[in-house]
Amino acid sequence: MDRILILDFGGQTTQLIGRRIRDLGVYTEIFPAETKIDKEMLHETKGIILSGSPYSVNDPDPPWPDPSVFDSGLPVLGICFGTQVMMKQYGGRITSLPTREFGRSRVHFRRASALFDQVPDGFVSWMSHGDSIDELAPGFEVVGESENRIPAAVEAAAAPFYGIQFHPEVSHCEYGDQILENFAVKICGAAKSWSMDLYIEQSIERIKQRVGDQKVLLLISGGVDSSVVAGLLVRALPPEQVHLLHIDTGLMRKNESQEVIQDLEQLGARHLHFVDASEEFLSALEGVEDPEKKREIIGDLFISVQQREVERLGLGDAFLAQGTLYTDLIESGKGVGKKAQVIKSHHNVRSPLVEKKRQQGMIVEPLDRVYKDEVRRIGRKIGISEELVRRHPFPGPGLAVRILGEVSPEKCRILREADALYVEELKQRGLYDDIWQAFSVLLPIRTVGVTGDTRHYGYVLALRAVHSSDGMTADVYPFPFHDLREISARITNSIREIGRVVYDYSSKPPSTIEWE
Ligand code: XMP
Repeated sequence: MDRILILDFGGQTTQLIGRRIRDLGVYTEIFPAETKIDKEMLHETKGIILSGSPYSVNDPDPPWPDPSVFDSGLPVLGICFGTQVMMKQYGGRITSLPTREFGRSRVHFRRASALFDQVPDGFVSWMSHGDSIDELAPGFEVVGESENRIPAAVEAAAAPFYGIQFHPEVSHCEYGDQILENFAVKICGAAKSWSMDLYIEQSIERIKQRVGDQKVLLLISGGVDSSVVAGLLVRALPPEQVHLLHIDTGLMRKNESQEVIQDLEQLGARHLHFVDASEEFLSALEGVEDPEKKREIIGDLFISVQQREVERLGLGDAFLAQGTLYTDLIESGKGVGKKAQVIKSHHNVRSPLVEKKRQQGMIVEPLDRVYKDEVRRIGRKIGISEELVRRHPFPGPGLAVRILGEVSPEKCRILREADALYVEELKQRGLYDDIWQAFSVLLPIRTVGVTGDTRHYGYVLALRAVHSSDGMTADVYPFPFHDLREISARITNSIREIGRVVYDYSSKPPSTIEWE
């Protein structure tokens, strides 16, 4: 399949470049900045994109691409830092600006370019750079300038090399998709052959070949990723080979475990193993207030329950399927340049079972080439319920990180009820799908309130709602005031133990999405 190769220099939005081009129907893959570009890498590659970076090309030892990128004869598009690399590689000069160009800026064309076909002069781009082209490399021309008369787009006369100083992958950039399509399809000639149907077909085929007539085990969390993997396994293999295991930690949302089981039954899963370990988890958490300690207890206990159950079910020799996404691989450093400043994911518990299966080469990860939104599309196509496909992300340690301080069955019950009301309200108001993640947090303090003539102490509940693309950064959701007021009233009127509702206005960074 034709592909566009993206070299990642550690930019915040590299994954978005990949996603946007895939949305156009062209397959993309992201590789570390310094990947060797040999014949094999170039196989089926139609063009190369150099991403942005937190580095400056003038740093003592910045990440640098293999020079074969430029000798490959393929079109190359530099984005921000990528452009500066190209300039420096060919003898131009980059210096730092007195003030960063940041945010929206119009681009005015100085000459025509295939990259800007069907893009009007003066379109609004989105910039984020502190360095800029001071002297063009010989053989390059300026195609467009920003409002500050700083080169915003350059192009080589004799080679298919294009550089832009702005970020077409960011949604604030007008005509960003058009610019990426111009590069990938018109300039590189890549075919629009990437589709979810094709991916489903290929991954079913791969599962069949890998697993053969052996058993495969999948842990079902209740989230969309593991459910979609389950759907693919059930399609690829005879039902008796597929074993699905769900461990109820007692820290799930209201009715969550039951709903997951129902969904999987509908898909035709035959071996559904349901383990109610809630008492074990809740008693291990008794008296524990420290957030890190809570996470550790849950992680360790999860591993031991999992091992115990795998043995009990006689599945020690089975393949292990996982809902690893493309973004997980990139986050854990497999897709990112060795020098990139990656925020490591602290989320995936390194279980001995996973380590063992990995060593044995018995891991099946059918979603490891797709992004979250693509997983949702696959889910819809293979018949996962809309409720589940749309579900917001939910952390592994569950409600334990949303009950600040000590966790108790009573607090779990209160939070479960409150959160169910919150989510129900968001759905009824048509807000749920606009929000990337929304949930409630139960605070360990009580405040005074009045009902009728009596004063009583009630818990404080915090509501959270954020926009994000991958959870690495997040913006607070700009809630309409009347919705918040009505939701707050409904919660305090319906749940006696909650006396006060507050809304969390923090973005990430500096805050995190979860409170613990
Ligand atoms: P933070 O709180 O780090 O969260 O800003 C970013 C995203 O990750 C989720 N999250 C977790 N997911 N296990 C998980 O599987 C965890 O321990 C965990 N902690 C946070 C969080 O819900 C958000 O979507």
